[in-house]
Amino acid sequence: MKRAFIIVLDSLGAGEMPDARLFGDHDCHTLKRISQSPKFRFETLKKLGMGNIDGQEFLPQEENPAAAVCRIAERSMGKDTTIGHWEIAGVVSPSPMPVYPDGFPAEILDEFTKLTGRGVLCNRPYSGTEVIKDYGEEHVKTGKLIVYTSADSVFQIAAHEETVPLEDLYEYCRIARKILTGKHAVGRVIARPFTGTPGNYTRTANRHDFSLLPPKQTLLDALSAAGKTVYAIGKINDIFAGSGVTEKVYTHSNTEGMKYALEALDKDFEGLCFVNLVDFDMLYGHRQDIDGYAAAFSEFDSWLETFIGSMGEEDVLFITADHGCDPGDDHTDHTREHIPLVVYGKPVAPVNLGTRKGFCDIAATVAEYLGISYRGDGTGFWRDIAAPTAEEKAVCKAALEAQKAAYVPYSHFAVGAAIMTADGKIYKGCNIESASYTPTNCAERTAIFKAVSEGDREFKLIAVCSGKNGKSESAFPPCGVCRQVMAEFCKPEMPVLVMKDGERFDRLTLGELLPHSFTPDFME
Ligand code: THU
Repeated sequence: MKRAFIIVLDSLGAGEMPDARLFGDHDCHTLKRISQSPKFRFETLKKLGMGNIDGQEFLPQEENPAAAVCRIAERSMGKDTTIGHWEIAGVVSPSPMPVYPDGFPAEILDEFTKLTGRGVLCNRPYSGTEVIKDYGEEHVKTGKLIVYTSADSVFQIAAHEETVPLEDLYEYCRIARKILTGKHAVGRVIARPFTGTPGNYTRTANRHDFSLLPPKQTLLDALSAAGKTVYAIGKINDIFAGSGVTEKVYTHSNTEGMKYALEALDKDFEGLCFVNLVDFDMLYGHRQDIDGYAAAFSEFDSWLETFIGSMGEEDVLFITADHGCDPGDDHTDHTREHIPLVVYGKPVAPVNLGTRKGFCDIAATVAEYLGISYRGDGTGFWRDIAAPTAEEKAVCKAALEAQKAAYVPYSHFAVGAAIMTADGKIYKGCNIESASYTPTNCAERTAIFKAVSEGDREFKLIAVCSGKNGKSESAFPPCGVCRQVMAEFCKPEMPVLVMKDGERFDRLTLGELLPHSFTPDFME
């Protein structure tokens, strides 16, 4: 039962992007900032190897990390929650969502007034509590709607519940949602109902968000189309406007989100559990509370120990973020940062992938792991982090043994190969040189010829190791002649394990090593 868990620590940036200045940011690094707080605990994530991620040298390093890690640059032109999550789910946004520091243009508001039959007040960026204080009375008197925005891409409508019935307010939001398309496609339209009397207006819990549908198919859509579960915890459902979500639960805090994530481990499902922990951003990042942020991180770090201890054999956990929100920089907005990625689970090898380009690589990787067809943005890296299978270990061990028998008096370059037949038998081969040089036979061909001469012609896996004086210190891919011989008997998708040393190897395929090959099919 393969399952992926993506946990987004909302706004936990891993250091500024090269283009941060274009977004009004400089010297921002959310993780670094909170790591300087006395409230910062870094134990579980240290063991997993978060400190080994590019650009996190200020954190304690881990010699034997338990997880695969990398830092990822954002491809989208944005630094908000929606764009960040969409990119994680496989949709790159080439342009930012529109913001309205001077209010919405007349073309939008005229249409809105025409369709709602109500005028508009304010139309400026405003604090949600101040706006009802300053415009509430006039709104109640005239019935005009309070329309305001913020630094984010939002169209917010505040209305008194006794002046505008809730259902009407929601309908006005739907009308706004329909108008706000194309270049005015704001991330969210938000209903902000309030009650009370002048001087005592308060917002009610009936806030409702009307999000924008992602512009193309996401990982969530691809998974649900393939019949898998997509379980959304926290605000994930709203971020995707419900698209592709098969089960959902809303939360009021990180603590609650973590509780649901832990309970999800006991649920019986195949697919994705996608969690957003928003307190980091909402309560601490925007409010520039460094110690609060660090304390919330520490709570997550200790909870994580329990979570990973309860993960099943085929569970893979992706811990990441959607943008930055450095609580110690010179403004309260999000910051344009890389995101960290920690991938943990039994099926994962602890590889450090350096810095990658595109949060969408996460979507492509989850799709590869869960074995579904996916055509969204991103390059999957599942094969770079997948832990060796028993079969892979067996062929690698056999290739190393074969290398010992290499007959290499002229080159001293010893090569070992091992090929596994469709029914699991392994044939070993080494290179055998000749004083007249040309009759030299490569290790791969020795292994293949041994198998074929014994009547075996169907193969599923080959491993090769080589190195000067018998030492395998880096990857040497098979020569062209051996690739041609492989193409005679093996399918393009057959994995070729090019060993770097006794343990590590690159997973390639024959098709990558010899594309457009001349095969027996052409002779038919
Ligand atoms: N060799 C192999 O055994 N396999 C390859 O794919 C590349 C080359 C051997 C042939 C020769 O004995 C030595 O490596 C140096 O070329």
